[in-house]
Amino acid sequence: MPEAFSISTARSRFPALQHDQVFLDNAGGSQALGSVIDSITQYLSKTNVQLGASYHTGTISNTKYAQGYEAAAKYVNASRGEIVLGSSTTQLFMNLSYALNIPSGSTIILSKLEHETNVKPWLHLASRLNLTVKWWESNASDGLKLTPQNLKPLLSDDVKFVACTHVSNILGSIHDIKAIAELVHSVGALFCVDGVSYAPHRQVDVKEFGVDFYAFSWYKVYGPHISLLYASTSAQEHIKPLNHYFNPSKTLEDKLALAGSGYEAVQAIPEIVSYLSPPGEVFSAIAAHEAKLSAILLEFLNSRDDITVWGSKDSDQGVRVPTISFSVKGKGSKEVVEAAEKISNFGFRYGHFYSKRLCDEVLGVTDPQYVVRASAVHYNTEQEIRGLVEVLKKVLP
Ligand SMILES: Cc1ncc(COP(=O)(O)O)c(C=O)c1O
Repeated sequence: MPEAFSISTARSRFPALQHDQVFLDNAGGSQALGSVIDSITQYLSKTNVQLGASYHTGTISNTKYAQGYEAAAKYVNASRGEIVLGSSTTQLFMNLSYALNIPSGSTIILSKLEHETNVKPWLHLASRLNLTVKWWESNASDGLKLTPQNLKPLLSDDVKFVACTHVSNILGSIHDIKAIAELVHSVGALFCVDGVSYAPHRQVDVKEFGVDFYAFSWYKVYGPHISLLYASTSAQEHIKPLNHYFNPSKTLEDKLALAGSGYEAVQAIPEIVSYLSPPGEVFSAIAAHEAKLSAILLEFLNSRDDITVWGSKDSDQGVRVPTISFSVKGKGSKEVVEAAEKISNFGFRYGHFYSKRLCDEVLGVTDPQYVVRASAVHYNTEQEIRGLVEVLKKVLP
């Protein structure tokens, strides 16, 4: 692991990790870097004015905001005009669904492995433009993965839009977005990817992925509650601006932001980018460490006949991220979590995590409280995951 990114150094950058709580609900939201917290405090203390002003403090705020946008765009390998920052991925996809125009009467393809954020906006689009919706599924024989092979039978010339997740927030499996993008583009459709569960674990490079639209949320990537949507310059030809008629409509921000980019959060993004730099080196260290965390938990879960691991049982860093969900025969998911909370300081969750279609229609989860999910990131230690295994041993039948 590169010296610049040892895990113990990484941990010391997060004030919350100095407290007596083991954070294993990181797929819900990560802890924030101390440098992010400080930067927000500084911004709000000294430069909290409305943007666009020409007086002294105003110019400082303008510059900080512009630097936040520049850093975010560079981080994902996009140009400044190709990104918009907003309150959540849900909100940004919804804005896009109001603004996007594809031929009325055409077909769109949505996956069943999604957080509802990457479904509802496109159902809205379908009803607005009278589109046909086709559902893209995967099953146990595909390893519960979305692939070019299981997409191909659904494609035809009237398909104009395809949406799927980069990583399922329940299964943790990584989809080959680049290969899927090539196939989607072969029929001339636009491709939209939910990168929320991918971005905390791997480098985001929208040009390398070859996607038209891509979104993720910085509050799961060690930052404040703000999200990013990318739309390529060519895909923006299909976007009708939602802004006031007298405002510019050149950049994606002009078209979709609707004044929704919280200034103090935007200007803190350079702190996250600096922490994750250089991304190639940092994310290779992160991926290697996370695979060790997955291996510890999966070895225990796989060893028990009464536990079903949802998704890949393999800890390989090319296959999954350390977001691991399971069900226990004879014990409800809620009971497992509550029993663990009674005897430990481990924070993890149960539920469908808004991927309800996946749980109901693909996995066929029967527990009314759905699944148990423990989700780690690079600042979790091997010792913490071993501790989780010990807690589970105590609370399971
Ligand atoms: C995979 C995935 N997509 C989308 C979202 C929604 O993100 P946001 O809260 O920024 O709308 C989440 C949130 O948990 C998620 O896990």
